[in-house]
Amino acid sequence: MTITELDRAGFLANLGHQLAIYAAAMAADPGDLPSRQVIMERHAGNPGLRALAAIDEASQHVVGFGYGFRGSHGQWWHDVVWAAITAADGQAAARDWLDDAFEVAELHVRPDFQARGIGRRLLLTLTADRRERTAVLSTRHADTPARRLYRSVGFSDLLTAFVFPGGGPPYAVMGAVLPLLVNQRG
Ligand SMILES: CC(C)(COP(=O)(O)OP(=O)(O)OC[C@H]1O[C@@H](n2cnc3c(N)ncnc32)[C@H](O)[C@@H]1OP(=O)(O)O)[C@@H](O)C(=O)NCCC(=O)NCCS
Repeated sequence: MTITELDRAGFLANLGHQLAIYAAAMAADPGDLPSRQVIMERHAGNPGLRALAAIDEASQHVVGFGYGFRGSHGQWWHDVVWAAITAADGQAAARDWLDDAFEVAELHVRPDFQARGIGRRLLLTLTADRRERTAVLSTRHADTPARRLYRSVGFSDLLTAFVFPGGGPPYAVMGAVLPLLVNQRG
């Protein structure tokens, strides 16, 4: 498995693969993919973008991807989570977690390639040598492989059972102080 870093142009060129992996990994409704594509295109313009593709050496297929960027005011997720942490724990907590944060926006591995260490490698590579103090993300509020992966590298819950504006399932917002914990598998 090769992990390749993509620049902004490479990230945009890889969007079709990313959407296909996202759809398979999340069992997403195909009708949701166009709006997901618009979100990913918008994310490409965010500061400090780091995007990775996991490529299977045998087939040369992209089988996983992850990306994130530096969070800042004016970004939808950042502002929503800022308000929610402020409401729950006060502005100092929001500042502490979000003022100097790398936001992990997406991390997905094709189902037939899951549980082989690819997601962990993508996450650790995404956050390695970042200058931000923290990493933050949201994930379904459930006992999922993703949640276990995040906990295992040092993420803890900042918000639980959080419903983003517009509805949808409950999420956990998680944060870690960088660097992430690298265990024997990292
Ligand atoms: C979450 C995801 C990216 C992890 O990638 P992966 O390559 O499958 O994960 P890894 O093989 O690197 O395993 C990392 C950890 O995840 C957990 N995990 C992975 N597969 C698991 C499984 N089938 N059952 C239970 N835990 C599992 C374990 O904690 C594992 O650590 P361990 O190997 O030390 O036990 C991947 O499972 C995925 O795409 N899931 C669906 C989409 C998703 O939820 N994305 C995250 C959105 S926030």
